[in-house]
Amino acid sequence: MSTLLKLSGMVLTMVMTTAGQAQDARIRVDAGERGVPISPVLWGIFFEEINHAGDGGLYAELVRNRSFEDANTPEGWSLLPSSRSSQVAIDTTSPLHPRNLRSLRWEIGEGEGSAHLANEGYWGIAVRAGRSYRLTFYARSNADFQGAVVVSLQSREGKVYALKRLSGFSSEWRPYTTVLRASGTAPQAQLVLSVDAPGVLWLDMVSLTPVDTFKRRPNGLRADLAQMLADLRPSFVRFPGGCFVEGNSVANALRWRDTVGDLIARPSRWCLWGYNSTQGLGLLEYLQMSEDLGAEPMLVINCGMACQYRTDEVVPLEQLDEWIEDALFAIEYAIGDTTTPAGALRVQHGRVEPFQLRFVEIGNENWGANYEERYARFYDAIKARYPHIQIISNTTLRSRPVDILDEHYYSSPEWFLSQAYRYDGYDRRGPKIFVGEYAVTQGAGTGNLRAAIAESAFMIGIERNSDIVVMAAYAPLFVNVNDRTWNPDLIGFDSARCYGTPSYYVQKMFSHHRGTHRLTTTVQSPTLPGVITQGAVGVGTWQTQAEFRNLTVTHNGKTLYQANFPEGWQVVRGEWQVVDGVYRQTSDLTDVRSVAGDKKWQDYTLSLQARKLGGREGLLIMFRARDENKWY
Ligand code: AHR
Repeated sequence: MSTLLKLSGMVLTMVMTTAGQAQDARIRVDAGERGVPISPVLWGIFFEEINHAGDGGLYAELVRNRSFEDANTPEGWSLLPSSRSSQVAIDTTSPLHPRNLRSLRWEIGEGEGSAHLANEGYWGIAVRAGRSYRLTFYARSNADFQGAVVVSLQSREGKVYALKRLSGFSSEWRPYTTVLRASGTAPQAQLVLSVDAPGVLWLDMVSLTPVDTFKRRPNGLRADLAQMLADLRPSFVRFPGGCFVEGNSVANALRWRDTVGDLIARPSRWCLWGYNSTQGLGLLEYLQMSEDLGAEPMLVINCGMACQYRTDEVVPLEQLDEWIEDALFAIEYAIGDTTTPAGALRVQHGRVEPFQLRFVEIGNENWGANYEERYARFYDAIKARYPHIQIISNTTLRSRPVDILDEHYYSSPEWFLSQAYRYDGYDRRGPKIFVGEYAVTQGAGTGNLRAAIAESAFMIGIERNSDIVVMAAYAPLFVNVNDRTWNPDLIGFDSARCYGTPSYYVQKMFSHHRGTHRLTTTVQSPTLPGVITQGAVGVGTWQTQAEFRNLTVTHNGKTLYQANFPEGWQVVRGEWQVVDGVYRQTSDLTDVRSVAGDKKWQDYTLSLQARKLGGREGLLIMFRARDENKWY
């Protein structure tokens, strides 16, 4: 491709010739004429607890199952071979805290030498020479136990990198702490507790964290991963989900109140992505992270609905107040002053100055009548107390205003290329748009250049329409490569290393090179690559029953096609029947489609009548349908 740049006055003209295709394209940028402003908070990040993004990732805790809440057996923990016998079991008889019921009972027998209890961490504990690690645990013992606990960082082969001795145990739970300085580097070390005397020891909240967390915050973040985020220079951080906020049932939905305060009092919570969340990364930590990244926080709250793709459970309306209280608590905790109960609690937790908070999202991927009713209750309660807060909704609604609408897109590279113009035609009288989650998920490997380029085409469209699209974030952000539940993701890591996918560098490039205004640009090109200009027509539904009639395709007033259902219609998916000339879709499947017409049709007007008969979502009107996967 050759490019010629000409600058005349404030007008820049680029002439591009694609070798072999004898095709000239002219791009005219008029720098003298300022177009719409570009949102100053356009590019941000979306952090979700998925793929061990937090626990076993960004959250700097190195011990897996630190408070033994993960299961009825001590997962992540094992006894190493020893000539002194010992056994471990989960015990609930005398909990460390009423919200932290399980502890580990370690019965050490007679014999020679020491019994050893090891924690493997999250696929290994990475230690680096010269770095310090803070170890803390709670313990109590029976009267027979007179020994000490030797804590060490060791390789799997037994090479010791650091060692300390702790003693003075009693029948009462007490915290013990020390700092271990590593003499060597090992990406897959383990934490070992060794005891050389008989008796019974109970352990809980065994925690090991690097002293050098990001910005050296206590209960902080893994520095290399947080630096990857800082390097993106995000304007906002949406957290902590995603489906993680919803839970697969109401029982494990997010409650912000459970995520603040002393770690031993934060109940661990089942994460629908397949593991237990410690909730060590909680509200204060997310707010602090946003501030440390120079980004605005965007709090996502559960709206009294569990994931609609999973159980679709809802909190009954008469019990919703408790959930609204939780949302108000979280907001007050973030921005309340010391005279407010939650603000005072934040001060007690070590943060005096209120944080900045402008964005709150009610629910994640929730919709329908249940959402409408619940949204209204949350909206009224939040706006009454905090009118400055911009409320983000998951769908358009009738009963209350939507300040910003959150749209999510996961699709093929072709789809993203074709959507480069999506927002050009959005109604400017409607709500502002937040593209809260998007990524190429088909043919993307674990992240590749093709996906990154397609996303960047879409992002250019976002930037061009930033008068209406005010925020956007790629998703998901992180994957621990040992637990790839969702693919692809922006940043991959293991215990010691991390890397960005090509999409990461696209995000970085856009974020680092932000404009203030759109400039008037015209592209003259025989064809716009990636844009489908011809195709047939179609109708479809998504978990919805509907009927369609009087479908015609015209061009310049001339009728190209008049549907005579079901003649000539190809059912791509779903079940259809014809009743009195009306084409009726009867199944409640997703992505039900049916197409007709000529794939060579270009520039036509499609008209039809349609109505919804029942179901959970809506209708698809398809045009420029090329094949099963390419259509608008
Ligand atoms: O980003 C992964 C998941 O995709 C999110 O949890 C959810 O919001 C979406 O369906």
